[in-house]
Amino acid sequence: MSELNQNRASACRVCGAHLTAFMSFGRMPIANGFLKSEEIQSEYFFELAPAFCEPCGMFQLVEQPSPDKMFHGRYAFYSSTSRYMQVHFERFAQSVINGVLAGRADPFVVELGSNDGIMLRNFHACGVRHLGVEPSVNVAEVARGCGINTISAFFGRKLASHIEAEHGHADAILAANVMCHIPDLPGVADGVRRLLRPDGVFVFEDPYLGDMIAKTSYDQIYDEHVFIFSATSVKNAFAPHGLELVDVAPQKTHGGSMRYTLAPMDSRPATSAVDECLAREREQGLGRSETYVRFKQSCEASRARLMEMLNSLRREGRRVVGYGATSKSTTVTNYCGITPEHVEFISDTTPIKQGKLSPGAHIPVRPYDEFVRAFPDYALLFAWNHSDEIREKEQSFVAGGGRWIVYVPEVKVVS
Ligand code: TYD
Ligand code: ZN
Repeated sequence: MSELNQNRASACRVCGAHLTAFMSFGRMPIANGFLKSEEIQSEYFFELAPAFCEPCGMFQLVEQPSPDKMFHGRYAFYSSTSRYMQVHFERFAQSVINGVLAGRADPFVVELGSNDGIMLRNFHACGVRHLGVEPSVNVAEVARGCGINTISAFFGRKLASHIEAEHGHADAILAANVMCHIPDLPGVADGVRRLLRPDGVFVFEDPYLGDMIAKTSYDQIYDEHVFIFSATSVKNAFAPHGLELVDVAPQKTHGGSMRYTLAPMDSRPATSAVDECLAREREQGLGRSETYVRFKQSCEASRARLMEMLNSLRREGRRVVGYGATSKSTTVTNYCGITPEHVEFISDTTPIKQGKLSPGAHIPVRPYDEFVRAFPDYALLFAWNHSDEIREKEQSFVAGGGRWIVYVPEVKVVS
């Protein structure tokens, strides 16, 4: 715990205003830090505490572990595990190809945090010049194996200049579930501005603050998500770097996301969706600190109800298994105090997670076959963002009397 106060920010990462956390989720491990039992002794913890910056509207973590603790050669998150996400990125890519790239000669697309190439493979298939920037070398290797041009590095001003010198300016820069990971947002914004053509666009999407507040989906808060964005905070954060918010589009992914399109200032008109979204955010109270006091109370109430349910099932001797060893589940298990006594194991299809223990709570992660082999009485749906896909797939679990425990937007049992 000697590292506990490291990297504690007392100033907003975007505007520099003074920051204080409005709540703490307590001592937290790395959300994707699945570990072997012999690694328990050296497991890393930090204090997970979010803050809201009133002057610029940015929701952020007060403290974040250093990037090399999260994104490295053993990064456990592979984007392509969900069929739904593959379709989502195919559509995302098509909208760029048929939109901003249409009619352009030899366009160039850069993706920040390109993971295993789930998005860029669609550009590659159409012969579009592309480059992925992915610091986690193991996932980048998978992309390269599929013929997708990928460099393993962290994006910022310097790398932007290098890419520009080698490949020229980009027609489109894309990022999905990545911008919210990068603490140096000003550095990335400057890099994007430098690399982008004057008529280019920067399109990124991330979990949306409005959804998180509305659904009490506090499990979006974990080490990697240093920011949870809103249209208001994105507009404010990028304007000083010469980038204007010109479009927003809600997405179903990750339990409620927003896609933001930014362009060099005054280079293209903003759609009416931007003003509409900003107005909705004012109505929802996303700019007011009382909203976050209420959010904290909702988190506490959710935790109390979930533990009441799990403790009562345990007393009744029911078998409960977790479904999906998501990053998000690390916040839930550690904040609520869920142990292997409550949840026998977590079923997950990702080979690198199997046979390991979940971070902090040390619940064993087992292959999906074990879930199917002997259905439990209850499955705690940690991968709730894939609910439609999973519940469709698991009809025989329910037909055999199995029940789902969900906790977003509220704790309940469903069949
Ligand atoms: P993901 O939804 O990306 O969540 P997070 O961003 O919080 O990590 O992760 C989904 C996890 O759930 C991943 O480890 C794969 C697993 N999973 C299954 O085991 N079965 C499934 O059918 C699906 C869709 C996911
Ligand atoms: Zn700020």
